[in-house]
Amino acid sequence: MLKGRSLIDTMDFSIEEVEEVLELANQIISNPEEFSHLCKGKLLATLFYEPSTRTRLSFEAAMLRLGGEVLGFSEPNSSSVSKGESIADTVKTIGCYADIMAMRHPKEGAPQVAAEHSPVPVINAGDGGHQHPTQTLTDLLTIKAAKGRLSNLTIGLCGDLKFGRTVHSLIKAMSRYENNKFILISPQELKIPEYLKKKLEKEQIYFSEIEKLDEVIGELDILYMTRVQKERFFNEEDYIRLKDSYILDEEKMEKASKDMIVLHPLPRVNEISYEVDNDPRAYYFKQVKYGMYVRMALIAKLLGVK
Ligand code: CP
Repeated sequence: MLKGRSLIDTMDFSIEEVEEVLELANQIISNPEEFSHLCKGKLLATLFYEPSTRTRLSFEAAMLRLGGEVLGFSEPNSSSVSKGESIADTVKTIGCYADIMAMRHPKEGAPQVAAEHSPVPVINAGDGGHQHPTQTLTDLLTIKAAKGRLSNLTIGLCGDLKFGRTVHSLIKAMSRYENNKFILISPQELKIPEYLKKKLEKEQIYFSEIEKLDEVIGELDILYMTRVQKERFFNEEDYIRLKDSYILDEEKMEKASKDMIVLHPLPRVNEISYEVDNDPRAYYFKQVKYGMYVRMALIAKLLGVK
């Protein structure tokens, strides 16, 4: 039962509950008109303490396409946060106006605190370098549409695996499905956090860590590219040194299988050349659209509307 629940961590939902959301998203994709009044009279609040294009606007588009309405802020300095108001007081207040809220925050754990104080469901729309569970639902829906399954896949994750929260959420989610293998491609300094590595080791899930994309691209079913997260670096010198570590271009794509798909949570900076956009294996803009549909399904499920 998802009604009234919050989504803070990818693992908050069981595999069956994830499947329920993906199934509803597919129903919405097949017949969006049927769902266009589902949330009439309901309000979604978007509390964005960090910049966003896709997540905030897809949440807003999702609620509007369900016949509901939206309010919120995208610039924390325009809210009473700038006067020192706590997250707890902010969400208790917004819970008096809205039926559900989506929060992005630079501090890891902030949406968890919000969920503990909010009278309405809270959705984590990205917290620091920690988790981004609705991006993961997006990724799962895209992978299922493209590959027809969420198991028996070799998944290459490339770029900033240290700070990339979408990577952390996706590894957790995909490690629950049978026989998935993770090839972790990053510079030494941007490897996945130790806690994730320990989790994979403990659960005896196959993973390998390498630095060169060319050496493994031919083995992959999915290549998940990521941006080097400039905003999480402590000094600019390190960012400048690492920012061009990987650039996926047509030459590299020639070494990949014809069935491999390229995903990216976006925004991209320069890690995928524009020439790759025309390759039929480039799925990242389809992924953007799936993100809206999966958020429609999630909102409907958490509100318990039928
Ligand atoms: N994928 C993603 O989170 O994009 P935004 O930062 O634009 O929301």
